Amino acid sequence: MRRARGRSRREFLAGGLQTLVSVALFQSLFVRRLIAGPAAVAFSTWVRGLDDACLDLKRSGLSLVQWQESIQSLLERIELAELLAAIDFDALEKQLDYPDLGVDTARVRFPGVEGLPEKLSFYPKFFGMKAGRAIIPHGHRNMVSAHLIVGGEMHLRQYDRREDEGGALIVEPTIDTLAGPGEASSISDDRNNVHWLIARGGPAYTFDVIVTGVDGPGYDIENLDPESAEPIQGGLLRMPKLSVEEALERYGKDHHGQDPEG
Ligand SMILES: [Fe+2]
Repeated sequence: MRRARGRSRREFLAGGLQTLVSVALFQSLFVRRLIAGPAAVAFSTWVRGLDDACLDLKRSGLSLVQWQESIQSLLERIELAELLAAIDFDALEKQLDYPDLGVDTARVRFPGVEGLPEKLSFYPKFFGMKAGRAIIPHGHRNMVSAHLIVGGEMHLRQYDRREDEGGALIVEPTIDTLAGPGEASSISDDRNNVHWLIARGGPAYTFDVIVTGVDGPGYDIENLDPESAEPIQGGLLRMPKLSVEEALERYGKDHHGQDPEG
């Protein structure tokens, strides 16, 4: 398995401690709404950058892959402590139920940030999961999303969707890596359509930017069964589809002895 950008576990942990210290600093800044300072202005500009890219996707012909590259670049640029403070990480974390299978999510707002559009053109969402739990393997239609890991370490796997056979997708593996705080991934119909993330070694959290109905109304999510995938020619896999119940049962909690909570 390739480790993302050669960062060691120790570096992830050290980064986490620095983040905690910095979060306290930024939280005092944002919670007290002292947002006239340069950090707050820069943060507001950053959110508007996300919003502009999402608007361009729907209105100005930004391609799906261009959107992915643009959003991932923005997500990997933000100071994590600043982001966690601005979305009020502590409050979001308290909203989560941490189910035994899969993940819980919360709607993100930016309570201390002024200068944002009344209605953003994307859904900002917060995901949290206990160690060993997963964002189960699934593909998408007519939506895009990007995911910044803001806490913990995750085993990330992605696949391009090549064909739909009804009961299965033909996919090509594209990413298999460990990723940690500050690293982003994304999906679209054109690139890395299927994703699967498992939390390793502790709770893990992502901040997501989601746009649905990219090309007309509606969107869809299909759950998949990578462990039953059948290799076919050219490195492709025939990956069966699953109901959400089946997928949660099989993939919502890691069954490979790597869950330290049991
Ligand atoms: Fe997804």
